[in-house]
Amino acid sequence: MKLFGTMKISDNMVEVGGVSAQSLAEEYGTPLYIIDEEQFKNTIADFKYNFLSNQLKTNVIYASKALLNLYVANIIDESGLSLDVVSGGELYTALKAGFPAERIFFHGNNKLVKELQMAIESNVGTIIVDNELEIEILSDLLKDYKKSQRVLLRVNPGIDAHTHEYIKTSKNDSKFGVSIFDEDTIEIIKRIHDDEYLEFKGLHCHIGSQIFQEDSFLKESETMLEYISRIEKEENIHVEELNLGGGFGVYYTEEDKPFSISEFLKKLVKFIEDYSKNNGLHLKQIDIEPGRSLINNSGSTLYTIGGIKRTFGGKNYIFVDGGMTDNIRPALYQAEYEGIIANKAEEKPAVKYTIAGKCCESGDLLIKDIMLPKAGRNDLFLINSTGAYNYSMSSNYNRIEKPAMVFVMNGESKLAVRREEYKDLIANDIVIND
Ligand SMILES: Cc1ncc(COP(=O)(O)O)c(C=O)c1O
Repeated sequence: MKLFGTMKISDNMVEVGGVSAQSLAEEYGTPLYIIDEEQFKNTIADFKYNFLSNQLKTNVIYASKALLNLYVANIIDESGLSLDVVSGGELYTALKAGFPAERIFFHGNNKLVKELQMAIESNVGTIIVDNELEIEILSDLLKDYKKSQRVLLRVNPGIDAHTHEYIKTSKNDSKFGVSIFDEDTIEIIKRIHDDEYLEFKGLHCHIGSQIFQEDSFLKESETMLEYISRIEKEENIHVEELNLGGGFGVYYTEEDKPFSISEFLKKLVKFIEDYSKNNGLHLKQIDIEPGRSLINNSGSTLYTIGGIKRTFGGKNYIFVDGGMTDNIRPALYQAEYEGIIANKAEEKPAVKYTIAGKCCESGDLLIKDIMLPKAGRNDLFLINSTGAYNYSMSSNYNRIEKPAMVFVMNGESKLAVRREEYKDLIANDIVIND
């Protein structure tokens, strides 16, 4: 298993942030989400200090759908990054954490009226509008509130990046945004530009997630810059801000070959600076919106092994005390992970296992066919690179309690999310006696 950040092996045991897996399991129980705080902060710095320009304002926006809770919002706030939210719930969490509203970007293809009202009332900095109807609704609301609002329009540049079908977002029939190939989109831009309460700032796009080709992002930028140039020349509308979304691929297994973020960001900025200068664009600000690449490799999940089973067909299963409820990605997109028996970290692999969860679903498999030392009951199993889209996609299927989350750094651990208890599972149930 590839080790990230402060994760290391000492005396046959995995440790993260200077704390052993064994002591984390003893103190907090399992399953447990573990975040390597130093690694998270280093990754934030990597983005922040490599996405800089002398000509343009640059802005890194953390896509909070990857992982959000009060403590994550605090870390992002302290680092000076902006925050992307896509629901009233994410917005509520950010505001409760004291995140400055002016640094929030509010997304969504179907924002509810109550969510738009919440955004307006809390003075959210930027709303990314998705479609014409939403523009009408937002404009009417702003008229009632007598408030103006910075907006970006989400457009779809039609880049077909190589990634899983479900995480591609920029094909012509995507549910997100409006196509740059649709002539009506120009009319929508004019509509926003001429609105009394909407402040048209520019365009947003996002071509998908877990993308490994730098070229896809350069093509996205070029396509967007050409489109901006057309809007400026033909419509005489200035496009000051371009948000290129997120989607930078990360390592889960040896098959994933991420590019160097620091080198790529410098290349991207130079490309945009040159294009903008050579074509006399009025671009003032560029944004990127990474989620997965900011948090994923700082996270891991620790489980306790319960059962071990050899089937009649000869397959060896390890059963862990979590599963698709804390990590839906293998079942949802056939995502692959690496793992290790945390308390047998230096022992030689001897058996091929499949790691299965405890949910009542045959597809509840976390890792298929992994070579490990011989496992025993109560061994600890750690899956790496679970920082993004694990906790945020977790569920209570089978009425299983959601795990706790700890942040570890310099030999200390901090509980950021407490483990759910059975009573949490019935907290919203109503006893009906008729
Ligand atoms: C609009 C938008 N921005 C940013 C992201 C973050 O993508 P990633 O986590 O792959 O960086 C997403 C993810 O789907 C998105 O839809």
